[in-house]
Amino acid sequence: NQYTAEIKAANPANAAELEEFRIKYLGTKGIIKDLFDEFRTVSPEEKRVLGKVLNEFKQLAEAKYAELKESQESRAKSQDIDIDLTLPGEGFELGSRHPLSLTRIEIIDIFKRLGFVVAEGPEIEDDWHNFSALNFPEEHPARDMQDTFFIKKNSGKDDIALRTHTSSVQVRMMESGKPPFRAIMPGRVYRNEAISARAHCFFHQVEGLYVDENVSFSDLKQTLYHFVQELYGEGTKVRFRPSYFPFTEPSAEMDISCTICGGPGCNMCKYTGWVEILGCGMVDPNVLENCGIDSKKYTGFAFGMGIERITNLKYVIRDLRLFSENDVRFLKQFQTEI
Ligand code: PHE
Repeated sequence: NQYTAEIKAANPANAAELEEFRIKYLGTKGIIKDLFDEFRTVSPEEKRVLGKVLNEFKQLAEAKYAELKESQESRAKSQDIDIDLTLPGEGFELGSRHPLSLTRIEIIDIFKRLGFVVAEGPEIEDDWHNFSALNFPEEHPARDMQDTFFIKKNSGKDDIALRTHTSSVQVRMMESGKPPFRAIMPGRVYRNEAISARAHCFFHQVEGLYVDENVSFSDLKQTLYHFVQELYGEGTKVRFRPSYFPFTEPSAEMDISCTICGGPGCNMCKYTGWVEILGCGMVDPNVLENCGIDSKKYTGFAFGMGIERITNLKYVIRDLRLFSENDVRFLKQFQTEI
């Protein structure tokens, strides 16, 4: 009859519609109940035929109801995890490079264009590479210039320490090769200092070494001048002040014109208009000889700078501790493409 097709096609979308289906066919006032009421009034011959038809119809409705109910329940179960697929996805945030890495990459880039290669060495050093080969005499107060973390300390000669500068890599390079050398040495160094806004127990350096025949102080000046123009922009002024390092002679410190203020009122340059950014000098002949290089034939220059200092000046950062605290609010200000 007409309902059979309807039952077969029934496809309730939710529990309410399924309940409607149940009430319509199987409910106490439903179609099947009505049909059975009618059935009671027909003749015995008709009952025999109709009884079979009616029973089949009832079974069909019941089976269909059971099937629909089950499929709706399993659908509900799979939706138990509370996902709304229509919501927009949560984007995931890209990290950013650490400001010290940005500066290191930039410094390396500038010197690479001048033909310098990058050299690295160990952070745990022996006395020879960190001090003696660099012309720090034993028991000499010059060693106190750099407060050292010693790992093993007894006689001096076989002391082991955390390197205080990457000059140790210069020694390793000169010992194991032949001139010419043209390299920069980026790396982490350690000094036993109280932690404050202006000092830390570790920091990062880039040192440079250039050894060949006829290398002069004017090569040193021009190289560093060019470096500063590239890093801080055309027109940045430089000035050299005489200084002292055991491993260079003569030695100098280089200042640049304050890139932040250019005048009074600035706490980066303490109102002078100048900020020191690196130490440099001509490699002391003793150092060349210590590394097996003929100091009559070869001369060289060396320089060393702190990456933190260079970064502070570039981005106007006034507290060194920010670099190692990993505060995302600080770090995410340095979104760049490299
Ligand atoms: N090694 C020195 C320092 O750490 C820097 C420097 C390097 C100075 C090379 C002169 C030449 O302070």
